[in-house]
Amino acid sequence: MSLILNDESIETPHVSPEMPLLDFIRNQRGLTAAKPGCGTGDCGSCLVLVGEKAPGETQARYRTVNSCLMTLADAEGCHIITPEGLNGEALSPVQLALVEHGAVQCGYCTPGLVVALTGALLNGESPVEAAEGNLCRCTGYAGIRRACEDLDTQFIRRERTLAEAAVSGLLSALVAAASAGLKPLAEEKRPTHGNHLRFRAGNTDLGVQHAHQADDATASIRLHRVPSLRAITLHERHVSVGAAVTLAELRQDSTLQEEWPLLGHFLSQFASPSIRHMATVGGNLVNASPVADLAVLLLSMDAELVLQSASQERRCSLADFYLAYHQTALRPDELLTAIRIPRNTDVSRRLHAEKVAKRERDDIATVNSAMTVSNGLPGCFGEVRISAGGVAAFPKLLMATSAFLSGEPVNAAIIREAMTLLDGEIAPIDDLRGSADYKRRLLKHLLLAHVLALYPELRLEDCLP
Ligand SMILES: Cc1cc2nc3c(=O)[nH]c(=O)nc-3n(C[C@H](O)[C@H](O)[C@H](O)COP(=O)(O)OP(=O)(O)OC[C@H]3O[C@@H](n4cnc5c(N)ncnc54)[C@H](O)[C@@H]3O)c2cc1C
Ligand code: FES
Ligand code: FES
Repeated sequence: MSLILNDESIETPHVSPEMPLLDFIRNQRGLTAAKPGCGTGDCGSCLVLVGEKAPGETQARYRTVNSCLMTLADAEGCHIITPEGLNGEALSPVQLALVEHGAVQCGYCTPGLVVALTGALLNGESPVEAAEGNLCRCTGYAGIRRACEDLDTQFIRRERTLAEAAVSGLLSALVAAASAGLKPLAEEKRPTHGNHLRFRAGNTDLGVQHAHQADDATASIRLHRVPSLRAITLHERHVSVGAAVTLAELRQDSTLQEEWPLLGHFLSQFASPSIRHMATVGGNLVNASPVADLAVLLLSMDAELVLQSASQERRCSLADFYLAYHQTALRPDELLTAIRIPRNTDVSRRLHAEKVAKRERDDIATVNSAMTVSNGLPGCFGEVRISAGGVAAFPKLLMATSAFLSGEPVNAAIIREAMTLLDGEIAPIDDLRGSADYKRRLLKHLLLAHVLALYPELRLEDCLP
């Protein structure tokens, strides 16, 4: 395998391709600025920048990733920039802002923060949002926030470009040199090593399940190296989203932004920016976590899945996909290739979603829920679809409650009845995130939040049971 590490082109003939990239850069290459922390994508101390040229593209794109969850195989053909690669003779603007605003105490989280904020400046993104996945054990958040806001004012709001020195001169030179040398990513071939094969996409679920283990017996087919699985294509009645499209790419798609205006906002509550750069749509649906955020959103949007085996392609509505706890209708010889999201060109179907977690950002849900509704007769609901996670063994379309509300007049009495009906459709359990009773009450409040957001004429005090 070959890759560019900072300013050096390297080959890695004797290293397991399944080795975490973090272990490779620290233990094999002696680059120790990216720090081991949680090992599960939660703390951001291991962040690096990954540049890649997608097939057909001439410019490399750079994104921040958690190197504890990326394997060496994933880095093949890419340009990896570690915190060392961002050090010039003088401090970069990011480093300077962190120092000037007192954001550095013990310094353990600092290299990850420098990478996160440099990535934000490189891509014209909000520094405050970029730092959402970076934990500081010394809790120096006030200084970190001030540094982020300063960088935002200095660079993002003034739309200063990389060339105008938004980032260190060294990084500009690195990116320019590597971009010229970087070839478009080679298409995935069937691996020749390992006794078992599995599909791997962003590795944000698999990597956590197999944290700290380089599993040589299992070879992965890296789905994000298959161009057709990374495409978003428009059709008359649906948008086809390749299963290996990342959450970040889905959030940025202009058609989906126009037709489902709040989708991007809800997706910003999914994990952290660096996890969203890795995690894929297909991985979220196939992993079948009972609280999978995207599954809950797409259930309410009436998405359909395209499942492909060697001999046939079939379609399955997402509502029929989940069978039991972590069990889906995907057969052992099948791959999820695409997700068909209905077009909403006149924006007549409205979406609202809520996620309640222990932390506002970068946490998985205790309970999440989404509702879509089409235009109905005056004063009435149109077709309603309500979904929820964390209240059953899998993400669930609340069919009875949705059918009950569809076509009914919009009034407080109907909402109160719907909340009673909803109770019979769910079976939450007590766990670390909350008691079953708490989750029941939470979901009723989320239903209220949906209808109050979608029908502002309703009054909260009238709808309470
Ligand atoms: C720190 C952290 C925070 C997280 N926060 C959230 C959150 O806020 N909300 C949330 O919902 N999830 C969250 N997750 C979970 C995870 O990020 C998502 O479920 C993600 O979408 C999984 O996608 P992936 O591409 O990384 O899957 P992978 O780990 O690559 O794969 C997951 C499973 O799906 C299979 N698979 C993947 N793609 C396909 C396909 N196309 N066809 C067949 N099988 C396939 C794999 O074989 C594997 O079994 C978080 C994870 C981490 C580590
Ligand atoms: S070590 Fe914590 S995110 Fe990688
Ligand atoms: S400065 Fe010590 S962990 Fe952040």
